Amino acid sequence: MRITILTLFPEMYGDFLKTSIVGRSIARGIVSVDLVQIRDFAHDTYRHVDDTPFGGGAGMVMKCQPVLDAINSVRTPESYTVLMSPSGTPYSQKKAHELSGKSHLILLCGHYEGLDERISRHVDEELSIGDYVLTGGELASMVISDSVIRLLHGSIRPDSAEDESYENGLLEYPQYTQPADYEGEQVPAILLSGNHEKIRKWRLQQSLVRTRERRPDLFGRHELTGEERKLLDR
Ligand code: ADE
Repeated sequence: MRITILTLFPEMYGDFLKTSIVGRSIARGIVSVDLVQIRDFAHDTYRHVDDTPFGGGAGMVMKCQPVLDAINSVRTPESYTVLMSPSGTPYSQKKAHELSGKSHLILLCGHYEGLDERISRHVDEELSIGDYVLTGGELASMVISDSVIRLLHGSIRPDSAEDESYENGLLEYPQYTQPADYEGEQVPAILLSGNHEKIRKWRLQQSLVRTRERRPDLFGRHELTGEERKLLDR
């Protein structure tokens, strides 16, 4: 997979692209990530990429020409272009899976007060990573790249992606590691029992109870199986 990030602040990505699973996936050739400076497409001497809004108001708006020229310099028929925007569709694990199937993702990061609305007609989708406003789309593009890259074949062990929060519509069960007794706080005895079936049921029950308590919205959308109903009745 190829990811191209269009941004005014490529320096924000340095450590992100070198570290941990993302860094390793790039080093192994599972994904390539290119950073494109939108300002390189500005034509005037001062390399302006923004201007004042028509109709008045505070702040600056990113102009069509440099942004669309930047998109067109990297776009191919296989590209899927996503605009990072607080007004976009909410991003989700389901969308991460969808994007991980694309061969070329273009992630466009806005800055200042926003982008000229005409730019949005040239993208496939607008995505928001949450109901808050960032100073720009860069962090959002890192969130999306990170969550997509870890789903690519060879990035992480397939079973570690499967068991996690959101993969089955539920939050993840609690995990513990050594020591079994930490200053008097014990690991649940069932996890030391060696009984795999009992451990599986306990984890599923913990996931269900946690989701019901912490994320009633997710729990309401989850269709309970017969086994899950029984575990909740206990
Ligand atoms: N740009 C600014 N805020 C954003 C958000 N919440 N999601 C995506 N892009 C953004």
